[in-house]
Amino acid sequence: MINSQILGNSSSVIELKKLIDTVAVSDTSVLISGESGTGKELIAKNLHSLSRRSRHKFIAVNCAAIPRDLIESELFGHKKGSFTGAIGDRLGRFELANGGTLFLDEIGDLPQDVQVKLLRVLQERVIDPIGSIKPKPIDVRIISATHKDLEAEILSGGFREDLYYRLNVLPIISPPLRKRKADIVLLFEHFSKIYSKNQTDNITLAPCLVNAFESYSWPGNIRELSNISARLTTLYPGKKSLRVVDVPETMLPNGLRKFLGTAQKDKTGSNRVENLISLAQGDDRKVVENTQEEDLNHNLDADKSLKEKLAEFEKRLIKQALIESNGNVTKTAKTLNVQRTTLIEKINKYSINLT
Ligand SMILES: Nc1ncnc2c1ncn2[C@@H]1O[C@H](COP(=O)(O)OP(=O)(O)O)[C@@H](O)[C@H]1O
Ligand SMILES: [Mg+2]
Repeated sequence: MINSQILGNSSSVIELKKLIDTVAVSDTSVLISGESGTGKELIAKNLHSLSRRSRHKFIAVNCAAIPRDLIESELFGHKKGSFTGAIGDRLGRFELANGGTLFLDEIGDLPQDVQVKLLRVLQERVIDPIGSIKPKPIDVRIISATHKDLEAEILSGGFREDLYYRLNVLPIISPPLRKRKADIVLLFEHFSKIYSKNQTDNITLAPCLVNAFESYSWPGNIRELSNISARLTTLYPGKKSLRVVDVPETMLPNGLRKFLGTAQKDKTGSNRVENLISLAQGDDRKVVENTQEEDLNHNLDADKSLKEKLAEFEKRLIKQALIESNGNVTKTAKTLNVQRTTLIEKINKYSINLT
């Protein structure tokens, strides 16, 4: 199943997959923490499908999406006539998941009164449908997830400590995408394959765009990367080696657009500073796309020492970046990813003069 696999070879994902394998066979409660879009639900599904419960159902409930006054009935069910609008008996999600796994997403949003009831279910292994006089025994594994800091919620009185310990027997942390940068290309191309009309039609990224993607913080995590992949796959079907300059700024993620800044792109349609940064970072995957860049690093005096050549190269790099940001030091510092004060020191040291 192409959509349910946890992809990635970064060390944090390898650790995560190992932990999932270990934890899946047990029957204890798991609490998955992590930012939105990091794959918490995917982890929960993997835990279910690797467990002895896999032949039974995986039922997901988003505690943040269900209106407050319906959540109890949604979870535990109700008997006909037990409240206005209860026109028939209704099975709750606990019963639907019986024998399988119940995934309680955004558990931090569960109202206090329902927290008490959930605690009882976890302790007694029975549910009380609304309006029913007989508790029903239930056998489900609880996996919950949250993007909130539940320990902070406990301190502020929003979440019950006793429930927290019941849910958090086995904690799993889903790392943000910025902590698994090594997987960005793999994930992007995976999503591009899915979004392409045919499976051979996926797009690939040029080193400059890989570099930009790896520098970006991805606040929406893998979901955001998936959305960008869908967008670029639609705009550039089958395009190989897509470059930053190929993509209009409005089509890039908001934060990334700000990060790159407008001044980087020169009129020839090439992005020189980015290439230079790649070169400076010694990334051998980087391809110089424009001979103008070569001008910057050849003609370095062959008789000079490595240190002198590096200094000369650094000076040219800074000068070029300054030109491309119209002399804006703050912008240049950002582009080159150095402190503004460091940049100013270097400008003085090399007596760089733009006029
Ligand atoms: N490691 C991964 N490999 C492949 N797809 C992933 C991975 N992590 C997340 N996804 C996909 O990203 C999207 C968001 O994941 P989801 O589990 O809904 O995140 P969360 O529950 O943390 O908000 C889903 O489409 C999911 O399939
Ligand atoms: Mg989710």
